Amino acid sequence: MMQRKVTLLASLFIGTSMFITCQSSKDDAKQNSDHAPDTTWAILPFNKIDSDNPVLLPGDLQFNCPVIGKTVKWEEKDVFNPAAVVRDGKVFLLFRAEDKIGRHAGTSRIGLAVSDDGLHFTKRNEPVLYPDNDSLKIYEWEGGIEDPRLVETDEGVYVMTYTAYDGKIARLLVATSRDLITWKKHGTVLNGKYKNAWSKSGAIVARRAGSRIIAEKVGGRYWMYFGDTDLFMASSADLVHWQPLEENGGLKSVLKPRKNYFDSRLVESGPYALMTDRGILLIYNGMNADEGGDPSLMKGAYCGGQALFDKSDPSRMIARLGTPFIRPDRDYEIAGQVNHVCFLEGMVPFKDKWFLYYGTADSKIAVAVNDVIAEQAR
Ligand SMILES: *[C@@H]1O[C@H](CO)[C@@H](O)[C@H](O)[C@H]1NC(C)=O
Repeated sequence: MMQRKVTLLASLFIGTSMFITCQSSKDDAKQNSDHAPDTTWAILPFNKIDSDNPVLLPGDLQFNCPVIGKTVKWEEKDVFNPAAVVRDGKVFLLFRAEDKIGRHAGTSRIGLAVSDDGLHFTKRNEPVLYPDNDSLKIYEWEGGIEDPRLVETDEGVYVMTYTAYDGKIARLLVATSRDLITWKKHGTVLNGKYKNAWSKSGAIVARRAGSRIIAEKVGGRYWMYFGDTDLFMASSADLVHWQPLEENGGLKSVLKPRKNYFDSRLVESGPYALMTDRGILLIYNGMNADEGGDPSLMKGAYCGGQALFDKSDPSRMIARLGTPFIRPDRDYEIAGQVNHVCFLEGMVPFKDKWFLYYGTADSKIAVAVNDVIAEQAR
């Protein structure tokens, strides 16, 4: 006990002096601080629910794929990367499921699962969003439909961003629904000269209202963070038609990877971006670089980070955590379709807690919980 205290004090001291050195060299005008960087804006900590994780596994449900006209075991291979929403007091997961057929190590579709307690889920037999013989098949076949993220509108319409993969290019698309079951596809987020650009992972700025997460305008427009290299932005008047934020004739980068950190290879949006009193809180995924990454993590590991943006200028980052708040260290996070992955995509206010759902090793789904919904999230 004593030994541990001493070590803790020593590391606090080292941490503090390192912080002062780095801070004063960066900004002499700023007063030297005798405490660690302020992280009170972040939602911390999240505890993995080991008693129930992983909370969703692949199974042998079948449905008739309209594109190939055959019955497929649509969630036989892996289930992962879920969006989450609370509706009628229950948690719904919209999860990515892969079959075992086709050229791309399985075609992805979006399934729906429901839970009374946020831990025990029942899957709907058939997927709710999938490639079909429709006008978007050119983007969605045969890689499929991946990685949903979800917000609601004040009027109770669910807006999903998802990745369509044709086998060569990943593109960000939008779909809407009133009941989470029947979805209307609206097409690509990026158009014009960006139509064939690689795009993924759209996190729309939203506020919490009780257990609902509702899209919120900033400066008269809706905003979305997207991307899986840097983060970029797009804005919209109606959540369906989006306009990218540009700078010097290209997409404007608003969050970049950092050398020597857990997010040294890439940054990629997590769930929606949450409007708080302190700013717009974005939970994001960071991938560790093979060279020049965080040496305490495996090469290629995906961990969770948090960044804060100015609530009147969503493109201006104010702060971000220096270390990941969630990292792959459980068996099912370490080994799977892609090893060493915690991939965060769904977060709901439920029973006065934050339930954060994430894909583990691109194979299963787990949950981590933050016990207090602080006043920071209105
Ligand atoms: C979709 O198109 C494919 C290929 O043209 C065809 O084989 C299949 O029967 C079609 N499915 C439906 C439901 O019309």
